[in-house]
Formats: sequence, structure tokens, C-alpha cells
Amino acid sequence: MSQPPALHSASVQSASDLPRHCSFEPADWRLLSQFWFPVAIAADLEKGPLGAVLLDEKLVVYRSGEEIVVAADLCPHRGVPLSMGERDGDGIRCIYHGLRFGAGGRCDQVPASPDMRIPDRLHLKTYPATLKYGLVWTRLRPPAEPSPLHEIPDMPRWEAPDFQQINCPSIDIGGFAGRQLEGFIDVAHFGFVHLGTFGDPANTAVPSYSPVTNAVGFSVDYRSTVANYPIGVASNAPEGFIWLRHFEVHLPFTASITVHFPNYGLLVVMNCASPMTSRLTRLFCPIVRNFDKHIPIEAVHDFNRRVFEEDRFVVEAQKPEYLPLDPTLEAHIPADRSSIAYRRGLRALGFSPIFAA
Ligand code: FES
Ligand SMILES: [Fe+2]
Repeated sequence: MSQPPALHSASVQSASDLPRHCSFEPADWRLLSQFWFPVAIAADLEKGPLGAVLLDEKLVVYRSGEEIVVAADLCPHRGVPLSMGERDGDGIRCIYHGLRFGAGGRCDQVPASPDMRIPDRLHLKTYPATLKYGLVWTRLRPPAEPSPLHEIPDMPRWEAPDFQQINCPSIDIGGFAGRQLEGFIDVAHFGFVHLGTFGDPANTAVPSYSPVTNAVGFSVDYRSTVANYPIGVASNAPEGFIWLRHFEVHLPFTASITVHFPNYGLLVVMNCASPMTSRLTRLFCPIVRNFDKHIPIEAVHDFNRRVFEEDRFVVEAQKPEYLPLDPTLEAHIPADRSSIAYRRGLRALGFSPIFAA
């Protein structure tokens, strides 16, 4: 991994490259702005432009034919948010004076002055847009030193034959993305937090496991007897079945879990925590599975939402709201190996000890 910039040198840079009302430490923001994050579910763009927020930057996301455009949510004419506008042909139209913007964020109509040559100043400030896993991903700044970390994270088996692709509605969480992601890879809370979905209060001991670091974060094989069936659904696991949960963490805020069910069933859930601000996270959650494909996807959406709502309740209550990367700031237990590997990985990237304060 590349050597991070020293915090003191970053903090004396001009703040002019930061969003207005930036809620992150400037040095943390500058590092975070170099990663891809999802900002919209592609299917939702059929209805028209969508507003989004990434790292305190307000964005508009829209379709222009086959192209997806991510741009600053600000009409260059008089500053009205374009997310208030509507789709118009292959573009979107501002609600105030009707300027239209199309492919590449280019203004292509000025109704009040139809014959004027359109100056560059009227084109939108755009960001790269990539469609992956049914999500629109963007990043605010190019990476200073490109590395695998600065690629869009891999989702295991998204393209695999015989797997059903599901995109759950996003969930907004009033907490920091780092706290949310850490909860996703935490294996000691199932029997306490997830009692309404799959947790077993009689099975709370965490067997030993070992995170293995790699170029983008780390992976973990976690084996236990905690089943992954919704409560009330009859298990078809043989007596003593060992459940393997394989985690892949791609720093800073993406992880996937692959749950190995009996009879070679596989369920992959990707946790893409998109930091809207340092205190607000939009969680996107693509899923694939190779079993139960006849069950309506609304049931998957519902179960997934209930699991993440159970987590949300905790994440929104955690204090401090930031993620303490200095190991002396919170107490730890042996079951926290993933959490410790996560914080260590973030620290190695150069994030501040009080991350996103
Ligand atoms: S403010 Fe958008 S067209 Fe005038
Ligand atoms: Fe959880």
C-alpha cells in the first residue's frame, strides 16, 4: 500500500478544494475523495434525475440515453439544484429557466436565447460514472497514486452463472460509514442484536479466526455453528453443521460476506457503505444467491432490511460517532480480530486517529 501523506502537511493546504460545510477532517476528506463509492441504484434513474450526497458534495445523477452522468447538483446559471428538475428526452431540464443538460453534462438548450452559442461555463462539472452491481459508482478526485485500492471493489459471484442478482433498496443510517462497516464484519453481536432475524441467544461464543491481509484490505474465514436461516424457517442443515462465513474487506468502506449453506448453497451480500457526510451513510446492498431463486425478491429485500435495521439501531447510538483508530481509545476482546484488522488497515492508509471527527 502507498505511503499516506503526513497529516500536518495536508492540514495546511488550502481548504478551497473541500466541499462547503465539509464534515470531515480535511486530510481524511482528501484521502476519501480518491475512492469509488456508489451513489445511486441504476434502476431508479428510470424515473428521472436523482439527488445524491457523497463526502458532503451534492450530486445529481441522471441518464442520457445509454450514458449515466454524475455531476455537481448545481445549475451553472443561477444555482438551482438540478435534482429538482425532470427528465427531458436525453437529458434533464432545470426548473428555473429551462436550461437542458445532456450527455457529458453539456448544456444543449437555452430556451430564453435559443440562438446563442453555448459557452463552456454553462456545462456541468462532472465526475466519472461507472455502472457495476446495478449501482452507479463515482469518485470525486483521481487518486494521487493509483493502486488496486482505488478500483471499484470486487463482488464475488456477481456474474456467475446460476446466481440470481438482487439489488435491495438503499438504507440511510445516521452514523459514520466506518462504524457501520465495522458492524458488518463483527461476528460477536449475532446472538444479541439479530434476535429478530437469525441470531441465536444460546450460541454466542466466538470461535477463533484469523484475518489475512491483502492488497485491498483483508479476508476472513469464520466458522461457527450459528445458522443463517431466518428465525421460524425450518433448517435443513445436518446436525452439527459448520457454517462458513467468508468476508472480504476492501478499505475503506466496502465488504462482502459469502455464507456457505448446506448442499452447496451460496449467499453473497455486499455491504457498500457510502459516506454522505461523516454522520450520515447510505448503505447499498447487492446480493447474489444460487438457491431459493423461486422466492419473491421482496422477501429478500424485507429480510435484508430487517437485519440492517437491527444494526442501524446500534450504529446510530455508538459514541464517539467517529471511528477511533488509536487502539488505546476503546477496549478490546479476542473476538475483535476483524475490527482490529480493519482499524489497523485504515490507519496504514493514513486516516487520522480520530477518523472523520
Ligand atoms: S437557474 Fe437553472 S436555468 Fe436558470
Ligand atoms: Fe449485524
